Amino acid sequence: MTDAPTAAPPAPRPYSPGLEGVVAGETSLGYVDGEHGRLLYRGYRIGDLVEHGSYPAVANLLWTGDWDARHRLPTAPVPAPVLTVLRALPRDAKPMDALRTAVSAWGATQQLPWPPTVEQARAITAFAPSALAAFARLRAGEEPVEPDPGLDLVEGFLYQLKGVRPDAGTARALDAYFIVGAEHGFNASTFTARVVTSTRSDIASAVAAAIGTMKGPLHGGAPSEVVDQLAQVGSADRAEAWVRETLDKGDRLMGFGHRVYRAYDPRAAALRKVAEGMEHRPDWLQLAIDVEDVALRVLAEKHPERALKTNVEYYAAPVLMGVGLTPDLFPATFSLARHAGWTAHALEQAADNRLIRPDVNYVGPAERDLPA
Ligand SMILES: CC(C)(COP(=O)(O)OP(=O)(O)OC[C@H]1O[C@@H](n2cnc3c(N)ncnc32)[C@H](O)[C@@H]1OP(=O)(O)O)[C@@H](O)C(=O)NCCC(=O)NCCS
Repeated sequence: MTDAPTAAPPAPRPYSPGLEGVVAGETSLGYVDGEHGRLLYRGYRIGDLVEHGSYPAVANLLWTGDWDARHRLPTAPVPAPVLTVLRALPRDAKPMDALRTAVSAWGATQQLPWPPTVEQARAITAFAPSALAAFARLRAGEEPVEPDPGLDLVEGFLYQLKGVRPDAGTARALDAYFIVGAEHGFNASTFTARVVTSTRSDIASAVAAAIGTMKGPLHGGAPSEVVDQLAQVGSADRAEAWVRETLDKGDRLMGFGHRVYRAYDPRAAALRKVAEGMEHRPDWLQLAIDVEDVALRVLAEKHPERALKTNVEYYAAPVLMGVGLTPDLFPATFSLARHAGWTAHALEQAADNRLIRPDVNYVGPAERDLPA
């Protein structure tokens, strides 16, 4: 017991809820320019990367800084102990839970010394699609399909999911989605991966924690909700009435608005092009385009103070549906794409490491004695 005065804590320092506006690091990987609707990976425009690159080439660019458009990365086999774990999961487990569990189990089967390496980044990025495909098949009562080393990562993922090689257009469309999903600055899951890495923990722990973070609906996004909303609209002539009713009820239009972008999300622009070029595009793509025009007009009228434009989720929906993924696989597929960014950030963090440990303002009771 002390008879020292019960001094009040020092005056709190400025605090930004959600760390909004706080600069928490430096990166040379991705530049998100919300004002002008630009997204650059190591300086290269996202639209150019989608047009001329592939996901393995983009992942390699993020990991190494080198651009090699011919870089390849086939999917990797699922180690037997990880397959045993996947088989033990309930069939109705969420694909995000299955993927997080698989990555965690995979880490237990590997030697992953700190600091993380490009080889480790490649290995986990190549393993994860096989694990998700295996779980998707197991829950449907089908046996997993072994990777085909002749196929590149995204094509291989679709092959292992469906058991047949996808046509070139389908593989290309999903590859474009993977490219736009690969990296996006200090979003919550990437920040998580950096925090884990900063403790000198291993790359599998960083990715497993990142998947857990992305699982939250505020982050993982919901292109499947775009699908639901378009089903509610039904036809283009109902678009105006539906948009107004939805906004008047105080509901949000899925696929519009963004914390950072004030201009049209460049990822949405790239994916719209991809969706329009798809052979197996969903019937409702034209409806999506018509509804978008109406939604942008009405949002501008209702929110003149805030630019609310189309975001990536809006055109991710037709691309993901068009390549034959079921909506419950959308969030985990987004996670597969983000593996390149998470692991590149782990490498960047480790290369100039400082334990990430912010301060917190104490707002509890002043020092006091226990009740007698
Ligand atoms: C993405 C999102 C969470 C960003 O939110 P944010 O930066 O925190 O923006 P705010 O929540 O501060 O919104 C500012 C205003 O715009 C409105 N607004 C934002 N997005 C809207 C949308 N999609 N539909 C209708 N109104 C929207 C808000 O209601 C708010 O209006 P108010 O001040 O009258 O309440 C938000 O735009 C949203 O919920 N969009 C729909 C879901 C979605 O598409 N998510 C995927 C994002 S990639």
